[in-house]
Amino acid sequence: MTFLFFTFVGAVHLLSLGSGKAIYKNGSPQRIFEEMKEEIASYGDIAKAIINRAVYGESQNRSYERLALLVDTVGPRLSGSENLEKAIRIMYQNLQENGLDNVHLEPVKIPHWERGEESAVMLEPRIHKMSILGLGSSVGTPPEGITAEALVVTSFDELQRRAPEARGKIVVYNQPYVNYSRTVQYRILGAFEAAKAGALASLIRSVASFSIYSPHTGIQEYQEGVPKIPTACITVEDAEMMSRMASRGIKIIIQLKMGAKTYPDADSFNTVAEITGRKYPEQVVLVSGHLDSWDVGQGAMDDGGGAFISWEALSLIKDLGKYLENC
Ligand SMILES: *[C@@H]1O[C@H](CO)[C@@H](O)[C@H](O)[C@H]1NC(C)=O
Ligand SMILES: *[C@@H]1O[C@H](CO)[C@@H](O)[C@H](O)[C@H]1NC(C)=O
Repeated sequence: MTFLFFTFVGAVHLLSLGSGKAIYKNGSPQRIFEEMKEEIASYGDIAKAIINRAVYGESQNRSYERLALLVDTVGPRLSGSENLEKAIRIMYQNLQENGLDNVHLEPVKIPHWERGEESAVMLEPRIHKMSILGLGSSVGTPPEGITAEALVVTSFDELQRRAPEARGKIVVYNQPYVNYSRTVQYRILGAFEAAKAGALASLIRSVASFSIYSPHTGIQEYQEGVPKIPTACITVEDAEMMSRMASRGIKIIIQLKMGAKTYPDADSFNTVAEITGRKYPEQVVLVSGHLDSWDVGQGAMDDGGGAFISWEALSLIKDLGKYLENC
């Protein structure tokens, strides 16, 4: 079996694991289930050895410490940035020093978007500087910004009902948080839906179940045939406040400035390392994570943790090589 470590860029998570043996043979579902149970149970000692080494043994804390060193040293690693290339160089060296096989880089093209300076100020009914984060792939505003009245809605349905009011305004979404997969649709499609109704920009309540006046960034998507309008996330607190103001019939005017810019796709690399097994060298088990991150944090969780846990899997297999071979 070949254990392949693969870090790629792009905010997509990929993890694929496969067994070296075909479990599905002819037989009743009950029989297949019993066989699977038996096969899984037969790996009990191996699993225990891996867990013991990782949690209590010589490899204790290793992936945490490796990750802390990377994020402390490099910091944020936005796709297309010099920091990302630095992280890839470090990762390549790490994998070589770890003694893994066939460590190599695969050339790829990746998106290159930069946030630039950004701000949003409520001008009416009172001056209030809002904390915002532009959304990935958003266009910027003209240098003087976009100053317009806000139309506050709590759902796409409400926007549709009130579409004639949206023309020339900044649509503010105050969608309640339901769950990530449902609520994130507002971040991804909010600008597109607002632009369809003729809005000049959109501000979206951060997709979060809890807020300490903290806006959350993330990717958004434009669609063909609809103008690309600037779009950013605002905090839950500001979204709710503007909703309250609007329900009192108060006119809200916002000035939005965003220096966001999309550049041509940049050159980058996938970072690959392998451990080639003895028994099934032609079969592949792929573990992976992405080295790129958003620009406003260190990307320790998304996806430094995923990438480094995947690397740790290979390191542990290497550490336990002799033991595993005899299993
Ligand atoms: C791992 O971290 C824990 C908690 O900080 C600490 O108690 C332990 O000594 C560390 N182990 C090693 C091998 O560094
Ligand atoms: C999220 O909420 C929607 C609406 O209530 C529901 O249909 C969906 O199954 C939920 N998704 C998850 C992953 O819980």
